[in-house]
Amino acid sequence: MPMGEDPLRPESLPRHVAIIMDGNGRWAERRGLSRVEGHRAGKEAVTQVVKAAGELGIEVLTLYAFSIENWNRPQSEVTELMRLAERFLEEELPEVMEQDIQVRAIGRLDRLPPNVRARVEHAVEKTRDNASLKLVFALSYGGRAEIVDAARRILRDAEMGRVDAEALDEKTFASYLYDPELPDPDLMIRTGGEERVSNFLLWQIAYSEIYVADVMWPDFGAESLRAAIVDYQGRERRFGLTSAQVSGGPTGSKGS
Ligand code: IPE
Ligand code: IPE
Ligand code: MG
Repeated sequence: MPMGEDPLRPESLPRHVAIIMDGNGRWAERRGLSRVEGHRAGKEAVTQVVKAAGELGIEVLTLYAFSIENWNRPQSEVTELMRLAERFLEEELPEVMEQDIQVRAIGRLDRLPPNVRARVEHAVEKTRDNASLKLVFALSYGGRAEIVDAARRILRDAEMGRVDAEALDEKTFASYLYDPELPDPDLMIRTGGEERVSNFLLWQIAYSEIYVADVMWPDFGAESLRAAIVDYQGRERRFGLTSAQVSGGPTGSKGS
């Protein structure tokens, strides 16, 4: 590819990009700063990447901002992360409205401090009718917790005779997840170089393409997002089929 030519194909964008925003702490430590300063820099990266995703025309962007396990970090770091989430939602709301972005949230939100939860609910409510990017914050989120929470509600509904054990299928199960309207992620990005899932969207990533970026989250910007999407566009998603089936070649008939 000659320099300067943009290989991104706008007609085949991933519908849903989900990002594990990792590496704030290491980014800061390498600069002799406190971890909290890494999180502050991470907040700026969120602003940049949300803007870039909107401009590209991505339909859904899910950001893993705080995991269930992150509650076990030192109290001072948890407090600062909560403060940053609150500030982000407060400060960015006018820009979010301007960009016609719809804010959503998944996770055990009842564990959030009341002021943070109120900010989240306010942003969700205020942006409800916005029609461009769906911006989903995974906050106090765990993939296993989400599956357990779904199972619990299914059991309750079964007791009331609203679901039947024999009829339970994947589609019905998925309708009990935190935000069943969202399509599964096509592309899952993790920054910070670690090759693991860390309890993110366990149900939904069954067939997501995974892209690990070595850059730490505060250094991930519009260009890095583009690079991830270009990489994604070079892959063949087979969903268990053969390559010939997927490409519709001579032996490419689906099923027999
Ligand atoms: C990601 O950065 C932010 C959150 C988990 C909230 P980290 O804080 O995990 O940064 P590293 O992985 O320690 O560098
Ligand atoms: C995953 O990062 C969670 C978020 C980015 C919010 P962690 O830093 O918590 O993950 P591990 O501990 O390295 O697996
Ligand atoms: Mg980390």
